[in-house]
Amino acid sequence: MTQRKLLITGGAGFIGSNFVHTILESYEDIQVIVLDKLTYAGNLRNLAKWKDEKRFHFIKADIANKEELSLALNGIDFNEIVHFAAESHVDRSITGPEEFVKTNVLGTFYMLEIGRNLHEKGKLNVFLHVSTDEVFGSLGADGAFTESTSYAPNSPYSASKAGSDHLVRSYFHTYGMPVITTNCSNNYGPFHFPEKLIPLMILNCLQGKQLPVYGKGENIRDWLYVKDHCLAIDLAIHKGKFGETYNIGTRNEKNNLEIVELICNLMDLRHPQGAPHKKLITFVTDRPGHDFRYAIDPSKIEKELGWTPKYSFEQAIEETVDWYMNNKEWWSEILSGSYQSYYEQQYKGIG
Ligand SMILES: NC(=O)c1ccc[n+]([C@@H]2O[C@H](COP(=O)([O-])OP(=O)(O)OC[C@H]3O[C@@H](n4cnc5c(N)ncnc54)[C@H](O)[C@@H]3O)[C@@H](O)[C@H]2O)c1
Repeated sequence: MTQRKLLITGGAGFIGSNFVHTILESYEDIQVIVLDKLTYAGNLRNLAKWKDEKRFHFIKADIANKEELSLALNGIDFNEIVHFAAESHVDRSITGPEEFVKTNVLGTFYMLEIGRNLHEKGKLNVFLHVSTDEVFGSLGADGAFTESTSYAPNSPYSASKAGSDHLVRSYFHTYGMPVITTNCSNNYGPFHFPEKLIPLMILNCLQGKQLPVYGKGENIRDWLYVKDHCLAIDLAIHKGKFGETYNIGTRNEKNNLEIVELICNLMDLRHPQGAPHKKLITFVTDRPGHDFRYAIDPSKIEKELGWTPKYSFEQAIEETVDWYMNNKEWWSEILSGSYQSYYEQQYKGIG
């Protein structure tokens, strides 16, 4: 078998960097090339552990810039592509949708073209595209998304991801490219950028800041531990069928208020000087077009690929809280940079 050489786009972001850790820790004879633009969400600190590792290489490039991308990859040898790079924050897609269309749609198209070029030379083993359950739109009180649920995206973020999923599908049907798409639910875990619900709440508790909760906190998400997600992606690379899509989730639905209250309880034990942290909960005006509920039916990946999650929610959420408690240097640097002005703009008037 030829040596596996993975090109991982967006590998300096939250899920991508966790995936780099999973892969380098799981396989000795593997090369990893991370290609990342290092936007506000990309952070080389996430990958610091591997900086002197011979199996690890980093390239800074923008997937939405065709010339820059082909120049950056010129002469670089790889045979698998795992595509994470995206603009990923729904709120930012509402205030600035253009970057989402550029990176998520055009950038995915350019990455597919890179893949097609390799495929035509017989050198591409797999192109795995990482997508979201948000492409399916919003659920009512019942039911769950399956792989055959119709697409109905409601935000510029989910619409741009839906566009990228369709392009990926077309490269299988048109060019016979070995593509696989995974659609997962909301992730949580180490290296999650503080604008997202779980890290935002942990860090605000630590700093005695208010805990902004949209609407009444009733929106439901199906929470997936990032380490389980990374193992599922690795399994899909090995066992997945080309041209197929796989939903990844752990049947772990919680509404936002439940999540925030749970974090407050965990923080009360770990940071008693701020207790009770629940007093910091502040309900803020709901996000426009806020999808009510997402829930994933993971039966297909369970039955066809034999996937089961390794971590329980209780264990994983505690690990996550502890990770933020133990990695103050990581998040202090982010909070002291340009993110601060975004935060102030987003949550005007709350302390
Ligand atoms: N976080 C979640 O809960 C979640 C859920 C479902 C699907 N996803 C998908 O998983 C993938 C990774 O999400 P994440 O949460 O790690 O995102 P993230 O925002 O933490 O990281 C995205 C990474 O992509 C890089 N990037 C952005 N634009 C780029 C460009 N033009 N060229 C090259 N690199 C660029 C950023 O620098 C960053 O390192 C995304 O495709 C996202 O849509 C995420």
